[in-house]
Amino acid sequence: MTRPLLIDTDPGCDDAVAILLALECDALEVTGLTTVHGNAPVEETTANARAILEFVDRTDVPVAMGADRPLLVDLETSEHVHGEGGIMGDLPDPGPATRPIETHAAQYIVEQARAHEGDLSLAAIGPLTNVALAVAIEPDLPDLLDELVIMGGAAFTPGNVTPLAEANFHSDPHAARRVVRDCDPTIVGLDVTQRAAVPPELVDGLDGSEGDGPLERSLQAWLTYYEDDRLERYGIDSAAIHDALVVASLIDDDVVETSVYHLEVGADGDLARGALVADANDVTGEEPNGRVAVDADYERYRELVVRSLERRLARTPSDVTQ
Ligand code: RIB
Ligand code: CA
Repeated sequence: MTRPLLIDTDPGCDDAVAILLALECDALEVTGLTTVHGNAPVEETTANARAILEFVDRTDVPVAMGADRPLLVDLETSEHVHGEGGIMGDLPDPGPATRPIETHAAQYIVEQARAHEGDLSLAAIGPLTNVALAVAIEPDLPDLLDELVIMGGAAFTPGNVTPLAEANFHSDPHAARRVVRDCDPTIVGLDVTQRAAVPPELVDGLDGSEGDGPLERSLQAWLTYYEDDRLERYGIDSAAIHDALVVASLIDDDVVETSVYHLEVGADGDLARGALVADANDVTGEEPNGRVAVDADYERYRELVVRSLERRLARTPSDVTQ
């Protein structure tokens, strides 16, 4: 039986790998992509989501465009990390087949949760503005979802935007605070995603040869989107494909190990903005309200992603996608 999955996303090189992984998985039915500001303005993350779907002939998947700014703080985007327009690679310009539906992303999240009567999983792999708006529209959203898995936060490890904050939580800290407080999330943060690399040399068919078509070239770019200075800063050899670890954890329960904590998110002040705080010593005496991924089986993760990309490449002769 396939599991319905809705992905809230800000493509984004690692988002693109996560989306391809979900689309390639027979056990998942991707019921839509809801787009949000983040790696680029929402107009561009929406265009990128549409282009990815057209790129892999999945124009059947609806796209619902969402928030163009955070709830309260000013918009900040990350083209300096993901490239001009918010994504690298060789994507086509999106056509009419993937024109976004009229429904706002937040409303679409609520409608999809209601329609699937508790069976829908929601993967939130960008800033949480749409999810916060959705739970404002429908306070019962957490009970209507099978699970909410978030790429965001840095509970016990340094941040990637400030010493305490990860990019998605920093982008919209008030949304992150609302969602962590109200939505019983599973948080797959930098504690595990910083080391979630998938070096392209592991993927048969991605050898960077001259004969590569647009899909090979794009995958090569998405798997290596970090510049050398960023690799050096984080002490890693290959780009972190953060968002794909969320989808992998939905496909295979053994990919990440989680622990339950009382969680809070800093929303104001310079240093506290976007900080994910896990009460590991139970000093607040507050009830646990979420789970944090504290370890991952990276070999299992890489095997899942590599097999999925090789299956996709095997179906796409490079001369077809010239
Ligand atoms: O901090 C990593 C997160 O920020 C990922 O979701 C990446 O796509 C960016 O959105
Ligand atoms: Ca993302």
